[in-house]
Amino acid sequence: MRLVPVNCLKGGEIIAKTVIDENGSRLLAKNTNFKSYYKKKLQARGIDRIYIADKLSEGIEIKDVISEKTRLRTINLVKDTLSIFKATQQIDVTQLKTSVIQIVDDILSNKEILYDMVDIKSKDDYTYGHSVNVAVLCVMLGRKIGAEKSYLKKLALGGLLHDFGKILVPDEILNKPDKLSKDEFDIIKQHPSHGYQIFKDHPLLTPISKVMILMHHEKVNGEGYPLGITKNQIHEGARICSVCDVFDAMTSKRAYRNEYTIVNTLNEMERMTKDHLDEDLFKTFRGMICYYPVGTTVLLSNDTIAIVEQNKIGSIDRPTVRVIYDLKNNEEIFRRVDLSATKELKVERELISEEYMNNPSILRAMRP
Ligand SMILES: [Fe+2]
Repeated sequence: MRLVPVNCLKGGEIIAKTVIDENGSRLLAKNTNFKSYYKKKLQARGIDRIYIADKLSEGIEIKDVISEKTRLRTINLVKDTLSIFKATQQIDVTQLKTSVIQIVDDILSNKEILYDMVDIKSKDDYTYGHSVNVAVLCVMLGRKIGAEKSYLKKLALGGLLHDFGKILVPDEILNKPDKLSKDEFDIIKQHPSHGYQIFKDHPLLTPISKVMILMHHEKVNGEGYPLGITKNQIHEGARICSVCDVFDAMTSKRAYRNEYTIVNTLNEMERMTKDHLDEDLFKTFRGMICYYPVGTTVLLSNDTIAIVEQNKIGSIDRPTVRVIYDLKNNEEIFRRVDLSATKELKVERELISEEYMNNPSILRAMRP
């Protein structure tokens, strides 16, 4: 399977990965045919790429770090927990705790700790999908630094609930597509405190999950909020949450901007270690994120186009690729290259949707 811009699909292609909508239900189901009228449906939700299965990408499989069942179930539980709180002011995290065990077990069942995927989220699904991604990334980073299973479960629950306090921020501020005024931003900045107030006496949450909610916007230089504390005063769980939160936020499309590519996100985060993010944790984090996830299309340094086939730990910026088109000679080719074994060739960059659509040669090469 491979990731393609929705724009270049004609209809009839096989959908290779389920697309989940903002309500946690299946918008497009795996193994069904794409219909051209789906385009509008997807674009209205800000989804501009999906995974398809075709001849060019035969044999290329992506593996989510948690199962689709776990992901869907957790997204729905986060959504239900929020709406029950909104209606009744009651919080029941019993089921969320079961989900947390599932997330941790799913992640521990993978041999390698590699985040090798592009999560397709609708722009309206930001709250729920984001919470689950942050939880998953927190557990992966926790595992990478050698945390025990009981700590991983606390990290997962904190990750799932880190932004819960946003429920008390008015929707028109939360979803405002334009730049926020200072007063509006001040209101948003209250969400960690709101979240902490909601959970601080909850018997089923451990202190670690609670401080993750309270401290996930603190910065190592002391200029974060709400407490303005510095690096060692910020609990490690919250520093982990902060790295994962920033990564998932930057790689997601939002109402007011497009997503960043993974490489641009990691480079920007590197700069943020000077004042915001924990440098050591970020270094470890960077080592588990594949720069070019399996199924993405990349431009190589010799002007050829390739689909990423496989990533390996230790060479996450040099995947094994399937070269399919030579842009210089405008001809189709088929060659497998392990970029970790050659010095002559490297990935120039990931090809993004606009490039795909605006360059006729690329479009011809890539059209299913
Ligand atoms: Fe937040």
